[in-house]
This record gives sequence, C-alpha cells and structure tokens, in this order.
Amino acid sequence: MCGIVGYTGRRDAAPRLLEGLKRLEYRGYDSAGLAVANGGGVVVTKLAARVAALADQLGRAPLHGATGIAHTRWATHGAPTQRNAHPHVDCRGEIALVHNGIIENADVLRAALQRAGHRFASETDTETLAHLIEDAAGPTLEARVIAALAHVDGTYGLAVVSAAEPGKIVVARQGSPVLLGIGEDELFVASDASAVLEHTRSVVYLNDGDIAVLMPDGYHVLDRESHVQLREVDAIAWELGAIELGGYPHFMLKEIMEQPETVRATVRGRLLFDQGTARLNGLNLPPDACADIQRIQIVACGTSWHSGLVGRHVIEDLTGLPVQVEYASEYRYRRQVALPGTLTIAISQSGETADTLEAMRAARAAGSRVLGLVNVVGSTIARESEGGIYLHAGPEIGVASTKAFTSQIVALVLLGLYLGRQRGLEQEQGQEVVCRLAQLPQLVARTLELDAQVQAIAQRFSARSNFLYLGRGVNFPVALEGALKLKEISYIHAEGYPAAEMKHGPIALIDENMPVVFVAPRDEVYQKVVSNMQEVKARGGRIIAITTEGNDDLSALADHQLRVPATAPLLSPILTTIPLQLLAYHIAVLRGCDVDRPRNLAKSVTVE
Ligand code: G6P
Repeated sequence: MCGIVGYTGRRDAAPRLLEGLKRLEYRGYDSAGLAVANGGGVVVTKLAARVAALADQLGRAPLHGATGIAHTRWATHGAPTQRNAHPHVDCRGEIALVHNGIIENADVLRAALQRAGHRFASETDTETLAHLIEDAAGPTLEARVIAALAHVDGTYGLAVVSAAEPGKIVVARQGSPVLLGIGEDELFVASDASAVLEHTRSVVYLNDGDIAVLMPDGYHVLDRESHVQLREVDAIAWELGAIELGGYPHFMLKEIMEQPETVRATVRGRLLFDQGTARLNGLNLPPDACADIQRIQIVACGTSWHSGLVGRHVIEDLTGLPVQVEYASEYRYRRQVALPGTLTIAISQSGETADTLEAMRAARAAGSRVLGLVNVVGSTIARESEGGIYLHAGPEIGVASTKAFTSQIVALVLLGLYLGRQRGLEQEQGQEVVCRLAQLPQLVARTLELDAQVQAIAQRFSARSNFLYLGRGVNFPVALEGALKLKEISYIHAEGYPAAEMKHGPIALIDENMPVVFVAPRDEVYQKVVSNMQEVKARGGRIIAITTEGNDDLSALADHQLRVPATAPLLSPILTTIPLQLLAYHIAVLRGCDVDRPRNLAKSVTVE
C-alpha cells in the first residue's frame, strides 16, 4: 500500500525514481510525486494522477540531481489531491519525505505544531513528520529523524532528504516494509524489491525500529539509540521478466496463464512419492510437535482467507484435526482464547498485510505456534513466523490475486498431507494425494484451454449488474472467490453463497436477469448442487455451470457449461477457480475497466 522509492548515486535520480514508481504502481495509484536534492535545495513535483502523467510532466520540466525520493499513493488521510500527494515538505521546503503507513497521533501532533507556528499545506498525517523533523535538534539528518520519531505513534516506512545534507537519504521502518538496494556507487530504498531489480539483486531488508543512512558510497543501519546494527545482504531470487508483461495486455491475464508453472513451482522438490508425503523443509515442525497439535486456526484476509476456507476442508480431511478460519481483522480484536496445542497458520501473498500480521502476533502472544504461508520471500510475516511454506509463485503484480490463490491451496494440501502422514494417514492414501498433486500442472494447462469459451460467455453477460455464485463443500470458497474477482475488477455486484443456503434469502433475487454461476464438479455433493440448480432454473435464472469433463448431465439445466478436468475432490478448487478468474477478467475488459489497477483497491494492505 503506497510505493516508496529513493535513489542516491552519481547519475540523475529522476529517471531511476520514475522507473521504480512504475514498478510499484500496483501498490497504490491515486497520486504520485518525487523530490530531488540538487545541491541548491530540494525540488518537488507531484500530481493527483498516475505515474505516467508525472513522467510527462517531468519530460516537460526535468528535475536534475543525483539524490531523490518518490512515492505513489493509496490515500488514507486526506483525499487524493495534489496537495495531499507525497513528498511532503517542512515550512522552509528544506526537508522532503515520503511515507507509507499511518501516524496514529497525527491530530495531536498537528495541533501542537500549528500552535508552535508551523504552516501545513496538506490534510495528511504524513506532513506532521516533516514539521517534527524541522523542529528536531541534532547534528545530522539521521539524529533529527530519530528525535522526531520519538514523538510518533503508528506505522511507517519513511525516506527523508534534506537540502542541508545533499547526497543523503535517511530511511526508517516501523510496521511498513522498506528495503535497501545495494548497487555500485549507488543505493536505493524501496517498499519492495521490484523497484530495484533493474539495477541490483542485492537487498537489505530492514527490521522494525531500524534507521538507515544512505550515501552514494555506502550505508549503515542504526537503532533508535544510534547504535550501528548489522543487517545481512540478501539476493533477489527472481528474474526481471517476472515483473514485466511479456506480451500480455494485463498482468492479471499473464498471472492466470502462468498457473501451470506456478502450481509446479509450489510442489517442486516437495513430493515424496515413495513415502506418500511432502518434504517441507522450512516448516520447522518436527514429528513430536506435530503430535502435540490439537487444533488449527487460519488467519488471513481477502483472497487468502478464501484459500484458508479451502484449507479447512483439506486439512480436516487429511488430518482429522479441527480447523477454524478467521478473518485476521476480526480475530486480532477478539479475546484470544489460549488453548494448548493450537497451531496458527497465517496466509498472505504479500506477507505484509497489517491485519494478518497483527492476528499472527496476537495468536503467538496467546501461546500458539505460528506458521506462515507466504509468497514474498523476506516479507514480515515470513520473518516473524516460526516456520512456514513459501509459495514460490513469483511476483504477483495484478491487484486481483490469481496465481497466489491456487498456489496457496496447493501449499495447504502439502501441509495437510505432511501433518496427516504424521497423524495416521495411510501411506497409500498419501501416495494418491502425491500423484494427484504431480498431475495438477498439466490439468491446470488443460483448464486454461477453456479461455475462448469463457470469453464468449463473458460477452453475453458483461452488461449485467448482479451475479450470484454458488458452490458447496470445498467448492463453496471457490464461489466466494469467483464473486470477489468479479466485483473487484468489473465493479459488478456479485455474491458468493453456499448453494443450499440460497433458499434462505438470495433466491428472492433470482429472475431472468440474474446470472447464477454454479461451481459443480462431480463430487459427493454434486447431486445436491444439481437440486439447487433446479431451484434456480424454476425461477428463470440464467445458469453458468462449472463442472467436470465428461459430465453431460446438465444440458437441460445449464445455459452454459465449462468443463474442467477431473481430479481428487479436495484438489478440484484449483481447477474450478480458473474459469472464474477468466470470466471476471474478460467481463472487466469488455466493460473497459482498468484490470490491473481497479479503483480504490491496493495490492498490499499495510494499514488496518
Ligand atoms: C488485498 C488484495 C487482495 C488480497 C488481500 C490479502 O485486498 O487486493 O488480492 O487477497 O489484500 O493480501 P495478502 O497479501 O495478505 O494475501
């Protein structure tokens, strides 16, 4: 949420900052700006517009200088206007900063600063930081930043430049991700690695409480008492191609189409055919710890919460353990009932979602062991978990999550398999799951061949204003996810419901204008779902059925059918989800929506 990038080196900063902002735009995109220190002072350009407009503006009026900071915003405090765009400056325009996070005591700080004579130019919480640093005493910019932050409650990823110390960027982290990119005679700061990959693969992930000082010829990291801290340099494992469109019109479509490969990457090296189990090296859960588990709780948000709901079915089935799935934002504010033997699993693509992180911390404080199921390597949830499973799905840029969802389900199956085998699942049953997992990439590729059919269905329904998605059992969460995808990117109202529960309300909405998407693969609840379809048909609803290849039962009921390959029932969500991702995508394109940057949304939600 919000993208930060900074550069100090020997070359012009502005072009590097703009490149970085383009890479980070998926984090927030309602305004953009940058500040360059050029020896004579700090110059700011900012707009209530996308990064492309900022680039045009800088084309007309270039800013020169070898040190700068930049920001692309997802508004929290104050509307997305030019005044509220970052960078923000102090009264004299000598200090400029960009910020990701929320300053919780901003109102109190602002009132005190105004009483002391400071003039504010924006409605943002961020601007208080610039004025605090202006007033702070200290021999260096970093000393003043440390002194100012002592007054602040809240979260921040922060980058600050000052006219008095050209060449220097001071960075601070508390609850919002920031990393340093280490180049030759040049240094970067960014809220994620995609912004620096073009220039360097060497990154330093900062910890909460860290203050970093960057100069073209080197950097050091301090704590709040100005003691030097040692931080490891990590290497970014993925290639530049992973964050480029590669010929696709949108990242969302690229990421949907990548799923045979991403599902393969999630299982790679983890399937033990002979033993019928999974090798999960990072799990950090030895056999005696497995034996102690009495219940599992999953905490997550958004699409990751949906994968958690699938995970409940999978893990209960494979292990016999009870699984509870919680919205992280709700869980963290409830009384955490500490029960011995609880294992908590935090699921998060980004590994930075604020509510998931806090829910995970709350669970740990209540005595639970905590694992992370995370895509982004080195992210906060990954680092704070006692163990976990990386998805290895590669960077996900499209705001609507697709490939991360299918990889999350695969990772949950691997976890269920591993725990199950430790707790009495027969070797043969385990081997069956392993074989089915190994076949999945091929089946995902075959499912993607439905694209042309899905596109034709999208054309017929793209003008509708409401959709209902229904499913049962392990495919009920797929109905929720299908509805979420559609509403996120096409702004059509869509609801997901357990198919039988429809009778208790949504059935009142059904008429010939209501498309109803049934997720109905051939499984143990299939006949029940067919009965629900009949109830819809009787009321004139238009039925789109996702079912299994070879199933010819539904011709009299469904207006349209999309048939996915057969697999084990517990794995079917990985396939049934794919036509729903494509349906949402094509409908959004037909409606002229900005698929990769849907309005009001952001990829990584680092505020509550
Ligand atoms: C945002 C994104 C969703 C995502 C959710 C949770 O709402 O737009 O796509 O599912 O956050 O994100 P996480 O990174 O924790 O999976």
